[in-house]
Amino acid sequence: TLIASFAQKLLVWHQAHGREGLPWQGIKDPYAVWISEIMLQQTQVATVLERYPRFMARFPTVKQLALAPIDAVLAEWAGLGYYSRARNLHACAKQVMEQFSGTFPSDPRLLESLKGIGRSTAGAIAAFAFHERAPILDANVKRVLARLFAIEGAIEEKKVNDLLWGLAQELLPTDSERMPVYTQALMDFGATWCTSRKPVCLSDAYVCTFAKQCQANLSNQVLMLPQKKVK
Ligand code: ADE
Repeated sequence: TLIASFAQKLLVWHQAHGREGLPWQGIKDPYAVWISEIMLQQTQVATVLERYPRFMARFPTVKQLALAPIDAVLAEWAGLGYYSRARNLHACAKQVMEQFSGTFPSDPRLLESLKGIGRSTAGAIAAFAFHERAPILDANVKRVLARLFAIEGAIEEKKVNDLLWGLAQELLPTDSERMPVYTQALMDFGATWCTSRKPVCLSDAYVCTFAKQCQANLSNQVLMLPQKKVK
């Protein structure tokens, strides 16, 4: 079945087509993982490539970030946009110092209790830094899963969201050692192959690894999924 074979197939895809050589790949320090995930959320990879090393040099540890004045954090964030992220970073660093003695928790539910860390970011940090079997479900992953399983109904609906989280959990590799590369592979697949408007299955450049199992591809619904709420 697709559920049973998904992780292995995705890992094989990643070996051939995943993005390589990015400075946040292979990081184990949860602080460094957290900063990269927050930056990558709403900022283009090319910009993060320039700014992530600079941010890490300016604030190398969660303690240094927590002790810095908020204005210094905002100044370092200049040009990255969505400044609430910088305010949340600072508040979260203080929380980690005060509530977790300066050590990031590995439990995704505890990570999610921190300022600015939602369920998917908590899963990414837990998977990358701690090899936890925690799923991610950002907009790219929602699209991938909604297509693979031809899930209809608006993704804003709680029923659909719960279904997608359940699938994201079921698809995880059984071997927790594979969680970092699996999580990166899922992000890369959604960002570069199973894209919103020009998915690889509709081009003639490559044959998608999942073409024969993807319910949306098999029923010609790829561009119609995921569905969004009509406003
Ligand atoms: N977006 C969010 N996290 C990412 C990551 N680790 N790699 C690439 N894009 C991302």
